[in-house]
Amino acid sequence: MSVHGEAKPVTVPDLRRMKGGTPQVWLTAYTTPVAQRLDQHCDALLVGDSLGMVLYGLPSTLAVSLDMMIAHGAAVMRGARHACVVVDLPFGTYQRSPKQAFASAARVLAETGCAAVKLEGGVEMAETIRFLTARGVPVCGHVGLMPQSVNVAGGFRATGRTEDEAAKVAADARAVAEAGAFAVVVEGTLEPVAASITRSVPIPTIGIGASAECDGQVLVIDDVLGTFNDFTPRFVKRYAELGEEIGRAAAAYAADVRARAFPQAAHVFRQARNAAPKPATFNTP
Ligand code: KIV
Repeated sequence: MSVHGEAKPVTVPDLRRMKGGTPQVWLTAYTTPVAQRLDQHCDALLVGDSLGMVLYGLPSTLAVSLDMMIAHGAAVMRGARHACVVVDLPFGTYQRSPKQAFASAARVLAETGCAAVKLEGGVEMAETIRFLTARGVPVCGHVGLMPQSVNVAGGFRATGRTEDEAAKVAADARAVAEAGAFAVVVEGTLEPVAASITRSVPIPTIGIGASAECDGQVLVIDDVLGTFNDFTPRFVKRYAELGEEIGRAAAAYAADVRARAFPQAAHVFRQARNAAPKPATFNTP
């Protein structure tokens, strides 16, 4: 069976084999109901540490904990039947040493049931990626704009505009691939840089703000749906305005309650006719 749109689960080797083929579709997901909606349309669901910003209102991803990632990873796994689920390792849970990274990744795999982890970093993380993949942990790399390094970069800035920056992103992607990553997210870089990386590494490049010259694309679901409004990066295309819908629904509910137009008879528990009085339950019409 095809890996597109059907119940057969997409595996890490499936994603690896899709290099150079039809572009891979990745989206972030953080909850069971959203994962259920996205699952059949995606090759992979990424439980990104972006959840710190789009769900928890944090100013960056730095304060996201391993327990938060595990709770949301398990929730997404309960909603995914088809897409391959990848969970981010958050800041401070893998950079100290390969052993620390293994302990964190092992918890994520065991406690969520997901297929793989993602971590940020290039040349400096190669040893860790090699350590993890040799011990049964599939790893997706993440190079270019790395949100966990926001304080070093001085903001969420695209990279690769100078020759030095472009060479660094390319060297990082190559190091991640050579270390055994099955795919690499390339974030916030120029089209020629992404194109050259995609040609030069044997693993799929998954772009976010990195042009169509990648083997696949990923976006943050709250950006796609319009439920995150603090800022909209240039590379985002919005496919819905659910934030506005939520506001409209809340306003309509508030107006109904204040006008005593809700609840109506259909929403009220009634005594069954010709029956002895019974305690009401939530299923009683
Ligand atoms: O945390 C995240 O959602 C990510 C994507 C932006 C790639 O890393």
